[in-house]
Amino acid sequence: MAKLRKDFLWGGAVAAHQLEGGWQEGGKGVSVADVMTVGANGVERRITAGVKPGENYPNHDAIDFYHHYKEDVKLFAELGLKAFRTSIAWTRIYPNGDEDQPNEAGLQFYDDLFDELLKNGIQPVITLSHFEMPYHLVTAYGGWRNRKVIDFFVRFATTVFKRYKDKVKYWMTFNEINNQTDYNAKFAMFTNSGLLVKPGEDAETLMYQAAHYETVASALAVQIGHQINPNFQIGAMIAMVPIYPASPDPRDVFKAERAMQTRYWFADVQANGRYPSWLRTYQKNKHMALDMTLADLDVLKAGTVDYIGFSYYMSFAVEAKAQEPAGFDYEEGVDKVENPTVKRSEWGWQIDPVGLRYAMNWFNDRYHLPQFIVENGFGAVDQIDAQHHVHDDYRIAYLKAHIEQMKLAVEVDGVDLIGYTPWGFIDLVSAGTGQMDKRYGFIYVDKNDQGEGTLARYKKDSFYWYQQVIKSNGEDL
Ligand code: BG6
Repeated sequence: MAKLRKDFLWGGAVAAHQLEGGWQEGGKGVSVADVMTVGANGVERRITAGVKPGENYPNHDAIDFYHHYKEDVKLFAELGLKAFRTSIAWTRIYPNGDEDQPNEAGLQFYDDLFDELLKNGIQPVITLSHFEMPYHLVTAYGGWRNRKVIDFFVRFATTVFKRYKDKVKYWMTFNEINNQTDYNAKFAMFTNSGLLVKPGEDAETLMYQAAHYETVASALAVQIGHQINPNFQIGAMIAMVPIYPASPDPRDVFKAERAMQTRYWFADVQANGRYPSWLRTYQKNKHMALDMTLADLDVLKAGTVDYIGFSYYMSFAVEAKAQEPAGFDYEEGVDKVENPTVKRSEWGWQIDPVGLRYAMNWFNDRYHLPQFIVENGFGAVDQIDAQHHVHDDYRIAYLKAHIEQMKLAVEVDGVDLIGYTPWGFIDLVSAGTGQMDKRYGFIYVDKNDQGEGTLARYKKDSFYWYQQVIKSNGEDL
């Protein structure tokens, strides 16, 4: 039977803004993550107009990886990681986003971090834009609604590609570029694209415009990256949430198909180099006036990705309404229904390991590219005892069930899989809620939602479990 690759990249994933802290260190500028307050389970984070005194901004200090990375990398090596997925905070390199010259202190920080990782046998896997674009690009340019932002992003990408061309092989352009499918969600629009929807603006059109510029920027980055180092592997990064029909009723089935098309056209463009015909027809029928030139379409064709990177946490289900428009249009915020066949996490995320295998098959049939699972994990409230033990068997159970399905996709279904980097393997700030207490880690970090704690790191039971998984190349689960 086929097996996981010998050089399979067992790793762990984080993002700069969720763990580094040091929000003003080394000349770093303010990012969109720096103006988001703490939320709670079921309570949205607020986006403030700049950094305001008296607010709790959890990303400002996060787990202070900026100052702790040397000790942390030692722990990562003990865990046995072969890959560490993080992002390069755009605001460390271009603090406002529109400068002509990069900030040397920021570049040096990542040189030091990557050297430390490589010295410990861990390869960095890098996302260019992970929910942390410069806030100045929002206030001065309106975020990704503005074509000029393409140039700023390309400048940033080119700078870091050149600087780290011998230290990083695997790159991704935009983290979970398709979250903004839910264009009525403020969080998704702001974190993906720096968009604050103004009264009278059509959020959906705005999203399609911003996403178009992002796919163009991504395609340009792919081309430039390959010129700088032909060995670079540059991927898409898609939030994969398979959407099932709630029943075998053909109308539900078509609703689910349209929902999948609506959530994953981003990957069609990035992997196939062109827009799917249903979407261009939809945009025309809705009279969306989009700035999309013939030159853009050539760029998309010439800058297709090398692999599909994706996150996987859960699945959705949809059901057709009694009256559907001709297009069975999918509106994420309103069309989802509960799937009674699967359990849910405390945050309402539907737990569906088989959905991971389904997703891998779906990607494989559609794009015929290698895949990289760059996020998967279980957010939970952990209890730590007096001896600093955390018995997180629920997390182990979640991951084990998903790894089993991942292996079936490789061994039985023939998917070419580069690696697996579970999310937040060291506790960090939740993107969605800003909480510390929604923990994903194998390494516990002593800090709570109020920002209190010693920042000490402790190994959970899952640490020793994952260590064994890596050692056995996934045989011993
Ligand atoms: C993905 C993001 O959406 O899921 C991460 O790429 C995020 O940044 C992760 O942290 C888990 O979501 P949350 O809201 O639980 O932090």
